[in-house]
Amino acid sequence: MKTRLLFLGPPGAGKGTQAAMLCESGGMKHLSTGDLLRSEVAAGTELGKEAEAVMNRGELVSDALVLAIVESQMKNLSGQGWLLDGFPRTVPQAEALEPLLAELQQSIEAVILLELDDAVLIERLLARGRADDNETVIRNRLEVYREKTAPLINFYRDKGLLTSVPAHGSVEVITERIRESLS
Ligand code: AP5
Repeated sequence: MKTRLLFLGPPGAGKGTQAAMLCESGGMKHLSTGDLLRSEVAAGTELGKEAEAVMNRGELVSDALVLAIVESQMKNLSGQGWLLDGFPRTVPQAEALEPLLAELQQSIEAVILLELDDAVLIERLLARGRADDNETVIRNRLEVYREKTAPLINFYRDKGLLTSVPAHGSVEVITERIRESLS
């Protein structure tokens, strides 16, 4: 199975859930920039203080800040496979990832796009109830996704790396769809 992966998809599509399942069985490192940022917020670091208000509005944290986090994580992996979840989220982030991967002599083997209707996304997120899971903020996150992250779909399609996976149904059924697309 491919072990250098990137997950794309709107908020609530199941990126974090599916990444955790795949990484547990495949031995890859799950690198979620959302989780890493929330750890910084919980620890009350300067970085966390800078990110918290931005995250609670559903906006994106600055590219520079996120890149610094990803760079330090990826440089500490020593050959292990990885799954990037929630990064890159803008074209500049995707462009900045390329020299980092070149330096590490690694490349993305597949980009999985999880696709789901807005109504189901919103229902899932409201049921979860994270700090950024109220309806106004969710709608803003969806707008931000469409404007800033969705251009990555063509960015990776043009590189021949993109596979779309329907993200409706049970967690297990979706995991199986992803596994099939990676074999
Ligand atoms: P991030 O944590 O990445 O949030 P997100 O993209 O909005 O994604 P979610 O975690 O909401 O959804 P998901 O697709 O992972 O779905 P999940 O598996 O959790 O980012 C948060 C914020 O951090 C951003 O808004 C931004 O401010 C900042 N940030 C992060 N990365 C950044 C970057 N690169 N650049 C700049 N800023 C960045 O599932 C959602 C819910 O649905 C869960 O409750 C789950 O249990 C449930 N669920 C999952 N699958 C199913 C299923 N099959 N059936 C029913 N329920 C399901």
